[in-house]
Amino acid sequence: METFARPNVYPGARTLPAEWYTSPEVFAEEQERIFSCEWLCVGREEPLTRPGDFFTTERAGESLIVTRDADAKVRAFYNVCRHRGTRLCSEASGHFAGSIQCPYHAWTYGLDGELKIARNMLEVPGFDRMEYPLKEAAVALWEGFIFINLKSSFDSAQDDNRFERVFAPLLGRFSRWNVAKLKTARSIAYEVACNWKLVFLNYSECYHCPLVHPQLEKLSPSDSGRNDLSEGPFLGGYSELRERGTSLTMSGRSSRKPAGSVAGEDLNRAYYYTIFPSLLLSLHPDYVMAHYCRPLAADRTEVVCAWLFDPGAMAEPGFDPSDVTEFWDLTNRQDWHVNGLTQLGLGSRAYSPGPYANAEGLLSAFDRHYLPIMGA
Ligand code: FES
Ligand SMILES: [Fe+2]
Repeated sequence: METFARPNVYPGARTLPAEWYTSPEVFAEEQERIFSCEWLCVGREEPLTRPGDFFTTERAGESLIVTRDADAKVRAFYNVCRHRGTRLCSEASGHFAGSIQCPYHAWTYGLDGELKIARNMLEVPGFDRMEYPLKEAAVALWEGFIFINLKSSFDSAQDDNRFERVFAPLLGRFSRWNVAKLKTARSIAYEVACNWKLVFLNYSECYHCPLVHPQLEKLSPSDSGRNDLSEGPFLGGYSELRERGTSLTMSGRSSRKPAGSVAGEDLNRAYYYTIFPSLLLSLHPDYVMAHYCRPLAADRTEVVCAWLFDPGAMAEPGFDPSDVTEFWDLTNRQDWHVNGLTQLGLGSRAYSPGPYANAEGLLSAFDRHYLPIMGA
């Protein structure tokens, strides 16, 4: 892999003015300009085992039903009946037995979104059920993750926003981990008292690690970080493990085999990437960790952290992921604590933009990507 030395920050690079992290107007603008337009990760394919399995998710103020149709294709439908607009599905997850029925007047849709049954509507002159399929968002699958896009439709596969074009820097990049085949062993949902961008920024530097994460620092020195993606929507790189053959776990050890075909220098590294604007992805010798991020308000963010392992390792007798999940639950909580403190300070009249350190080059890269999207 191409590796670059850590870039120094641009001269004069500073944190953004407070309103970018605190203002409800900026939050609303982001919902329009970012979360209604970008590819958003809504989780893994795994819960959708059979046709009709579904989960619902809320993005940019829209409720969506993510399901698998009879041809096993993953679809994301707006959760809105084409009759009088009623929300179709109120459950977080479940299984549709072959169709999606509205709870109001029983209009019934196929798993492909087509309106199949509309009671008594044949009596209505000019009514054609084919004109009322469920509306849908574009879906892309990458490494077992489901991405949706509220702006792209399936017809606009050629446009600049198509997944393959936007995600070109990442396609094939993590094949050594065989991420598509990995399975979620555990996940923990957090509500973090800060703006979603602080979660991304915090993930992009280890300047804070010696103080905030003594346990992590012991296993992986914070000054060993190197960036290999340092511009654009995807940012990150790796840190070295202090000792070869160790892993970021409570004990610092792991008896699991490496994931996929991970070998060589990757056995000695932990990779961390921010995938704008909804996913943080971290790849370790024997597991992969994903943080799914969803802004709830200017000062609140939902983060679901999931740990993915090789199904072979999970099938071993005595498989126990808790050495990994406890380590990262501790590390996550340490991060959420300081992120909450930062959010508090940003709300003060005493706050003014402060200078980024050289170890915070990715933070100014994030800002350089983010601001133009916001028209700034
Ligand atoms: S609103 Fe859905 S069937 Fe009437
Ligand atoms: Fe941290």
